Amino acid sequence: MTATQRRILVTNALPYANGPIHIGHLLGYIQADIWVRFQRLKGHECHFVCADDAHGTPIMLKAQQLGISPEAMIDAMNSEHQRDFADFSVSFDNYHSTHSPENKELATLIYTRLRENGFIHTRVIEQLYDPEREMFLPDRFVKGDCPSCGAVDQYGDNCDVCGATYSPTELKNPRSAVSGATPELRESEHYFFDLPAFGDMLKAWTRSGSLQPEMANKLNEWFEQGLQQWDISRDKPYFGFEIPDAPGKYFYVWLDAPIGYMSSFKNFCDQRDDLEFEDFWKSDSDAEVYHFIGKDIIYFHSLFWPAMLKGADFRQPTNVWAHGFITVNGTKMSKSKGTFIMARTYLDHLDPEYLRYYFAAKLTSRIDDLDLNLTDFAQRVNADLVGKVVNIASRCAGFISKKFNGQLSANIAEPDMLADFQQAADTLADAYEQREFSRAMRDIMKLADRANEYIAVKEPWQLAKHEDKAQEVHDVCSMGIHLFRLIMIYLTPVVPNLAASAQEFLNDEFRWDSAQTTLTNHTINKFKPLMQRVPTEKIDAMLDASKTATAPAAQAADTANTANEAVAIEPLAEEIEFPDFAKVDLRVAKIVNAEAVEGADKLLKLTLDIGSETRQVFAGIKSAYTPEQLIGQLTVMVANLKPRKMRFGLSEGMVLAAGPGGKEIYILNPHDGALPGQRVM
Ligand code: 2FM
Ligand code: ZN
Repeated sequence: MTATQRRILVTNALPYANGPIHIGHLLGYIQADIWVRFQRLKGHECHFVCADDAHGTPIMLKAQQLGISPEAMIDAMNSEHQRDFADFSVSFDNYHSTHSPENKELATLIYTRLRENGFIHTRVIEQLYDPEREMFLPDRFVKGDCPSCGAVDQYGDNCDVCGATYSPTELKNPRSAVSGATPELRESEHYFFDLPAFGDMLKAWTRSGSLQPEMANKLNEWFEQGLQQWDISRDKPYFGFEIPDAPGKYFYVWLDAPIGYMSSFKNFCDQRDDLEFEDFWKSDSDAEVYHFIGKDIIYFHSLFWPAMLKGADFRQPTNVWAHGFITVNGTKMSKSKGTFIMARTYLDHLDPEYLRYYFAAKLTSRIDDLDLNLTDFAQRVNADLVGKVVNIASRCAGFISKKFNGQLSANIAEPDMLADFQQAADTLADAYEQREFSRAMRDIMKLADRANEYIAVKEPWQLAKHEDKAQEVHDVCSMGIHLFRLIMIYLTPVVPNLAASAQEFLNDEFRWDSAQTTLTNHTINKFKPLMQRVPTEKIDAMLDASKTATAPAAQAADTANTANEAVAIEPLAEEIEFPDFAKVDLRVAKIVNAEAVEGADKLLKLTLDIGSETRQVFAGIKSAYTPEQLIGQLTVMVANLKPRKMRFGLSEGMVLAAGPGGKEIYILNPHDGALPGQRVM
């Protein structure tokens, strides 16, 4: 350990265990990983841990819907998440789960200390209850008519149409989104954490560090509004940890989620002899702890979390760093546009280092949203990594291996230029440290431009035509390799695989300080192409694949779903704006013909009359209906769905149906009297 070696623990927000990793998630993980890799390259002790966030109602319901136990679902998801992160070179030291013995132990310890220190109170509250499923309903699981404008089918917390916010008990005609039953108001005792008791401590914490300005502003707003008691309990049934001495009461998922940072680290320490959990978490620890998070969860991390830690006699985080969201091609990620890109779909088509570089080229320390413009993405990666950086080595390496047996010259052709490149290490380190990655990438690319200009001016390929210029060729090409090496050292945190190939080629091992040494008289290996240009046709293929991609674990479990009788209604999908809904053209359709499709186990070919025309639609309802049962029935179809080419022919729309599967699929039947072609609202 050197005198200035820092001890650092880094975490990234824990992904929920009910869905796959997508590129929106990856922004934060890649940002944190670049920072972590930089610290390690500098020689600091930097641990990076994460876990799946495995508790809560949506996870419980999703597992029920899939017909598997929550444990089975979260295990499958955990492996998938780990595989995705590893393939994007996110270098976690440990990846755990909040549904773990360590997390139970620490959540219990923290809660018990909070209680002993007087920060837990109980109060009876009223909440909507689903009498069929025998469960209290979170706000998002109640739907009904807006109390303000009367719009139908609104969530329990706000109205999409008029923007009103309200409590679910105010909804008119409320119903449970889990079972469809009419909810009842019921009383229950809840446990509250006394957040207001930490007002002064939180204000001091806010002012002590170097918080992002946007974060400090947000906190001040919340302080002005006044801090509220925080409800940390949920009634059974709930997938989580039972609260000590409170049978049937569970910790709310957000109570034990951040404790997952500690428990993953604890699990890691338990596997290592040289690492003590206490050194990082005791109240007077001098280690540094940083949480990378998305901007939507600042409240939890900058108020609840430091207060909980303080109240339970643990240290507070050194800092919490939030990032913005990503848009793709200028708009919110969208499944229909193919821009809701899963990590795995990306990996099936493109090199993860492209995305790491693109994110780095656009990331700053601010909480701004970041647009992944796919045209710009291809151009920038091609221009910078392939056209500038790799090009330096490919223009010089051949001469060194063919003419000089792989040996670099003993001379430094341009000592001043080399010194400039070496001095850049300090400003680049400062940019990485400050999370100003885009500034670092810009400065590194300026160095790459200089290196390319040098080679272009010297034209070693011309010099090589003259036998008496052999020494010059050797010196110029060696100089090019030295410059390439420095650039690659500086890029190592961002593109670790490219850096590994460069180290192999240079027969070298990079540390940040390696930039201050030079490989004169050093033997390098044969050059192999280090990176391909972005294949743009693969971008299109990735977008196409994203239109149909679903979560792999959910797919596997779908089969179990049909066999399961007690299936919950699927948790509600992400909300959409009214204009998006209005785009869907639903029409009454008469089934004028239905027939089996040869070679298709699940499909029936339907001919639908929608007044103005007839449509051919393939529907996956063969397990529930014979063709004879369908012919003559009225149903509802999506009439403006882009026709899809299927193996058996063109499908020109979609018929609406509901049910768990198998025999239990029910097409929608409008009342008799509705006419084919009438619009369904
Ligand atoms: O918002 C989310 O995706 C949460 N799963 C983040 C949890 S971060 C931490 F507190 F566990
Ligand atoms: Zn309304």
